[in-house]
Amino acid sequence: MTTVYLNGTFLPVENACISVMDRGFLFGDGVYEVIPAYGGNLFRLHEHLNRLKNSLDGIRLANPLSDSEWETILNEVLESNRPLAGTNNDQSVYLQVTRGSAEKRDHSFPEAVRPTVFVMSAPLPDPDPALTDCGAAAVTLDDTRWQHCNIKAVTLLPNVLLRQQAKDQNAAEAILIRDHRVIEGSASNVFVIKDGNVLTPPKSQQMLPGITRDLVLKLARQAELPCKETDIEEALLRTADEIWLTSSTREVMPVTRLDGNRVGDGSLGPVWKTIIALYRDYKAAVRQGKAQ
Ligand code: PDD
Repeated sequence: MTTVYLNGTFLPVENACISVMDRGFLFGDGVYEVIPAYGGNLFRLHEHLNRLKNSLDGIRLANPLSDSEWETILNEVLESNRPLAGTNNDQSVYLQVTRGSAEKRDHSFPEAVRPTVFVMSAPLPDPDPALTDCGAAAVTLDDTRWQHCNIKAVTLLPNVLLRQQAKDQNAAEAILIRDHRVIEGSASNVFVIKDGNVLTPPKSQQMLPGITRDLVLKLARQAELPCKETDIEEALLRTADEIWLTSSTREVMPVTRLDGNRVGDGSLGPVWKTIIALYRDYKAAVRQGKAQ
């Protein structure tokens, strides 16, 4: 029976449960370490705990435990899972800290939520002698990590951190720029209205293809508004007549202030008023079962 540590308790792994509202599960909003222990002695513990601290700082989460508390817990898990005499007692310890579970799912940080702290260990065999004796094969690949924004994946930590940064500046959303181009919001797609034209970035691997975005484009085209899926330079965003953000939960949200400056004349734009009326009509049709 493997013993793990979860939020203050040592217990059999089968009995260790976390909430489905845990932000590690919903957003990938957490950090972890893997620490080897040889003969029951933790390897480079100080360095691992330092890196943990840096990772926690990086996601703006306070370290829930002191270094000595960590050491005590890690040792206790190792001791509980010590193999029978005769084997070498090499183990790897896995620890994970998430931002905990809040009542509702919201990208920005919840208030007064206890982080989830989890530790487990497993036997650590020596590396495969077939590889250490003869060498291993490797291949090269493009480093595409965090570059599949078109996949609606739950690894949302970057989105979470960006949304929180926006919230810290009293903004409802962060509009993300890459190479001077507008990409999308932290949890929404972006539209820019310029001289009566409805512009939105074309679909690419850099953004989530929003369902709301597509519907808004369709409604705009039906209303014979000139629409274009085109790259939007940051400079154009800053001189936009109107900016909208679209998402399933925020519908078509008008942005009237960008980085503290007025968008257009700072009031709700006429094109937005047209599109939101169409959107609300569409919603009403869905309510009546006449559209989907
Ligand atoms: N997010 N881009 C990102 C990164 C998003 O997370 C979302 C939606 C969108 C808009 O997609 P849609 O129109 O299909 O909702 C664009 C949801 C609402 C969320 O995570 O809460």
